[in-house]
Amino acid sequence: MSMVKILALTDIHMKAAGRTIIGLDPYENFKRGFNHAVSRHPDAKRIILMGDLTNSGTMNEYTRVAEIIADCQIPITLMCGNHDQRNNLTAAFPNTPTDNNGFVQDAFIYGNTRVLTTDTQFGPPFLSYAHLGQYCEKRFAWLLDQLQQAKLARQSVALFAHHPPMKVGFKGMDQIRMRDDKRMLETLTTAGVPVHFLCGHIHRTISGSWHGHGFTVFKSTCHQMPLAFENPDLSLSTAEPAAYGVILLTNEGIIAHSEDFDIAEDDVQPATEAMPNT
Ligand SMILES: [Fe+2]
Ligand SMILES: [Fe+2]
Repeated sequence: MSMVKILALTDIHMKAAGRTIIGLDPYENFKRGFNHAVSRHPDAKRIILMGDLTNSGTMNEYTRVAEIIADCQIPITLMCGNHDQRNNLTAAFPNTPTDNNGFVQDAFIYGNTRVLTTDTQFGPPFLSYAHLGQYCEKRFAWLLDQLQQAKLARQSVALFAHHPPMKVGFKGMDQIRMRDDKRMLETLTTAGVPVHFLCGHIHRTISGSWHGHGFTVFKSTCHQMPLAFENPDLSLSTAEPAAYGVILLTNEGIIAHSEDFDIAEDDVQPATEAMPNT
């Protein structure tokens, strides 16, 4: 089975030096997660940072992200989340590709998989209080074109989106998902291509299906969302172990693993005592 490995880190929420989130240091957490991922998976073909790279979108915060990824030999793709400022992101990382309308979107082909990294940030204009996602006419046109190309080439589609369009059962977070969920579904139906969504934003490992399309949501590299379905508070956070995603693109489909980098063990022993007697 041919296989291409992609690393995904999301919701870094970088802050200024000395600033923490529920006592966690976003800089140190991202540095540990990033270095863990790169050292364990040097064969990865690409690293995707899936939005909320920063907590406030300041140049200082982007500079601190840049410090950590500067020497990496693996190509890195950046995405835009609700806590980012698109103009500062592209100013801090001037080689960031954008589509014809200035959105931070890109497409890659690996084997028979098309990887799409989409920009689900509300606006422009940027509104710091708008945490819900938006995918406007121009972006849907870009996506439909990509999906139609995938259909013609018989490719699987790994669709990275910071904001999930689907509800996942959290009263609060479901309010700030991608608000164009119906239009997203119509676009997928028009194209006639099944996709697998790979999302961030919720800060929790979640998987499932949405109208026949698969989805995986990854944890933040910093603070996590507790399993509190009924609580409407958008800022609920817990210091559960952080993670990154390891995505395997194969000729049979898309596989998504989640690695809790602070508790991952390298030298595990085979559990021979657990094997049945033969
Ligand atoms: Fe986030
Ligand atoms: Fe977010």
